[in-house]
Amino acid sequence: MNKKIPIDHHLLFCTGNKCMGKGSEDLKILAQNIRDQTPGLSTLLVTKMGCLKQCESGPMVALYPEGFWFSDMNTSRTVKLLDQIRDHRPPLPENLYFVLDNAE
Ligand code: FES
Repeated sequence: MNKKIPIDHHLLFCTGNKCMGKGSEDLKILAQNIRDQTPGLSTLLVTKMGCLKQCESGPMVALYPEGFWFSDMNTSRTVKLLDQIRDHRPPLPENLYFVLDNAE
């Protein structure tokens, strides 16, 4: 039987073609590196996902369980987002693109 790891948040980086072309894979790696070096982020799962069909607004990132989708992500916004998740602050209101209803 697999041992469950504790997860409070799941951060997903779109790695569809358009977002990949705008550096989403590097942003995912950056987020994983920050997570690995930050004790307050040990329960953050960082993974990639397929296209969210918002390609012109990418790189797109989704955060669950909040159901927040963020657009136009870059390095500084990724660092800021992880700081805000660590500090339990509402993340990136300036980049909030969409809130999925009933996500929580
Ligand atoms: S490739 Fe990212 S939203 Fe389509």
